[in-house]
Amino acid sequence: MDRIAIVGGAQLNGEIPISGAKNSAIKLMAASLLTDQPLRLTNMPRLADTRFLGRLLQRLGAEVVERDGEAGAETVLRTSEIVSAIAPYDLVRQMRASFNVLGPLVARAGHAKVSLPGGCTIGARPVDLHLKALEALGASIDLHEGYVYAQAPRGLKGAEIEFPFVSVGATEHTLLAAVLADGETVIRKAACEPEIGDLAECLTAMGAQIEGAGTPTIRVKGVARLGGATHSVIPDRIETGTFALAAAMAGGEVRLTKTRSDFIEALLLKMEEAGVGIARAADSVTIKRDSAKRLKAVTFDTEPYPGFPTDLQAQFMALMTLADGESVIRESIFENRFMHAPELARLGAEITVQGGEARVTGVEKLFGAQVMATDLRASVSLVIAGLAARGETVVNRVYHLDRGFERLEAKLSACGADIRRVRDNSEEL
Ligand code: UD1
Repeated sequence: MDRIAIVGGAQLNGEIPISGAKNSAIKLMAASLLTDQPLRLTNMPRLADTRFLGRLLQRLGAEVVERDGEAGAETVLRTSEIVSAIAPYDLVRQMRASFNVLGPLVARAGHAKVSLPGGCTIGARPVDLHLKALEALGASIDLHEGYVYAQAPRGLKGAEIEFPFVSVGATEHTLLAAVLADGETVIRKAACEPEIGDLAECLTAMGAQIEGAGTPTIRVKGVARLGGATHSVIPDRIETGTFALAAAMAGGEVRLTKTRSDFIEALLLKMEEAGVGIARAADSVTIKRDSAKRLKAVTFDTEPYPGFPTDLQAQFMALMTLADGESVIRESIFENRFMHAPELARLGAEITVQGGEARVTGVEKLFGAQVMATDLRASVSLVIAGLAARGETVVNRVYHLDRGFERLEAKLSACGADIRRVRDNSEEL
């Protein structure tokens, strides 16, 4: 498996173009199952996760064409017919969001058999809210041998659904099913993440009737059929935030382009509080940091949007390892999402974790070491730490990074980082 080697100490200066949002792209791809017409998605990120979902969709009957369009990478998906309504374990296990094909399959084909995603390294991550919502929409659900069997032979029916707490995936999944249900669906305590608005916009372009996406109450008037559309994927706010934190860690001045700073306002406010210079513009954000001056430790809780995103918690913790003072980080979205803490400690960070709370006492220096992480955002936090550590940091299991970051090392090295990919047989790329 490839590794990433970073020699810390170089400042970052230049521009980094931000890719389309992974977490949006994979739900938009699943939406293509709802119509027999082509769905053209532009500003597509090319990632292991999108390739992977493409393979699953092909198995279900989709034609998936990846090509270079005028405005960058695009994917055209067309499912003239559902040839199989079965998503097997080996495919769902590899990427949890594959589970989101369940709703569209039931909505369009009237039945589906989809593997439960199984355990996950960032906590239990159940799918009970997804299943309850589909039941409320009239699907009968049975669980056997790790599979969900869903049936709605006479179609889904609109319903009132109130979630007990915010779930991004369950909100998206309910939208993906309710658009073809008979009658009105009201989703209360809906997630407000920008990816929900993006999905609703795409579904609306396909002919769906949706109001209130991006607010806690979403109303969907079901339609009999959806058509094709062209839709541009929103910029990846987690990639934006990650590079913003990388620039803050290394020092220098980096402009992040093709993005939306309003999507990461909670992060930018915390970065300003820590002493990082931020200049917001319509479709870019510039990060400026004088690395001779130490940042201040700041404290934060992860929250649903528009709060501080859990997907940037690990990266911010990396920044705090060198800040002046103590930072208290509370993770309120996922249990067990501090696996990066012991790896950061290998670089010299001082972190104590108790339940859902981590205390980071800033140190003066980090030192390069061999590290590894078991999830995507945790892995990239180690890259960020490596940018400021003395000597060489080697991040193992790059597989995780490739799932969610497009050309990570190319984007960072274009701004001056000393970072390279090393093949397992030690041949450098
Ligand atoms: C999505 C994102 C992920 C991000 C997370 C929170 C994708 C592919 N992934 O994940 O990167 O970290 O939102 O912003 O978009 N829960 C239940 N039952 C359910 C569903 C969720 O108990 O049926 C719990 C989860 O375990 C978690 C919390 O709800 O504790 C929030 O999870 P959710 O918002 O659903 O996250 P995902 O959609 O899985």
